[in-house]
Amino acid sequence: MAVTEVRTAVFPVAGRGTRFLPATKASPKEMLPIVDKPLIQYAVDEALAAGARRLVFITGSSKRAIEDHFDTDDALEKLLDSQGKYELAEQVRSVLPSYASCIYIRQPAPLGLGHAVLCARPAVGDVPFFVHLADDLIDAEVPCLKQMTETFSARGASVLGVEEVPKRDTDKYGIVEVEAGDGIVSRIKSIVEKPKPAVAPSTLAVVGRYVLTPTIFEELERVGQGAGGEIQLTDGIARLLQREPVYAHRFSGRRFDCGSKLGYLKATVELSLAHPSLGKDFHAYLKQLAATLDD
Ligand code: UTP
Repeated sequence: MAVTEVRTAVFPVAGRGTRFLPATKASPKEMLPIVDKPLIQYAVDEALAAGARRLVFITGSSKRAIEDHFDTDDALEKLLDSQGKYELAEQVRSVLPSYASCIYIRQPAPLGLGHAVLCARPAVGDVPFFVHLADDLIDAEVPCLKQMTETFSARGASVLGVEEVPKRDTDKYGIVEVEAGDGIVSRIKSIVEKPKPAVAPSTLAVVGRYVLTPTIFEELERVGQGAGGEIQLTDGIARLLQREPVYAHRFSGRRFDCGSKLGYLKATVELSLAHPSLGKDFHAYLKQLAATLDD
């Protein structure tokens, strides 16, 4: 019987985050906080909500802080308890629930997202899995990967999270060409990495959410260097399409590209406004500030 549940999530976090230098020289981009949680914690929370239990991190140099973040810290918990800061102690404890386990695999060099995913093969094995890119933060009522698992269960095939982007931006994304669908899910006909706007087959872009069958590993073994000289996940998916159906899922929710400074700032402002204890004061501050700004 085909496996329809996804229990393993892969988080490629081995990129150097050059757009955030010098902040990312010695600490990972994925540890940048949005209000009070690092990006990687939003990523893990989303994957857990979608059913993941094994969390596979593909790490590189300067990424030790991610391991420390998901490790237990007895000394800190005891200190907070002894100071009566029970709520904070509980927040520290619940960074990783006890039913989840972490595996860390080192990508020897940042050879591309496709290569990073291939590094996860020994830990994933022969089952379907999520790939989650933490710098694409998606604020959604139903977590994006959870929306996509429903499509995966119904179709029994790989699913990519997609959204419309402006035509001028097609060369920043993998772009898909799809068959007519139901408005949310469509079968993918072709996929191409970072096409120039003039030759892009559509404006439907793949963002950092994937449910993939393990067949992708066989195809990633075969792809060579692609756009930017990197081993591209998109090229592996283009080969997968020749063997299996792959679906595009237009998720509902708002995506912030936290790999870019502007996207990161937008996420910080919007999630601060929605924050339960901070939102009201922050809203008042922004209103006051906006009144002093020029048009
Ligand atoms: P990006 O290209 O957006 O991230 O890769 P980057 O390379 O870290 O950032 P910039 O462009 O230099 O600012 C998308 C995702 O793929 C991971 C990155 O960590 C990021 O989460 N990645 C990329 C790897 O894990 N390994 C790679 O070889 C390349």
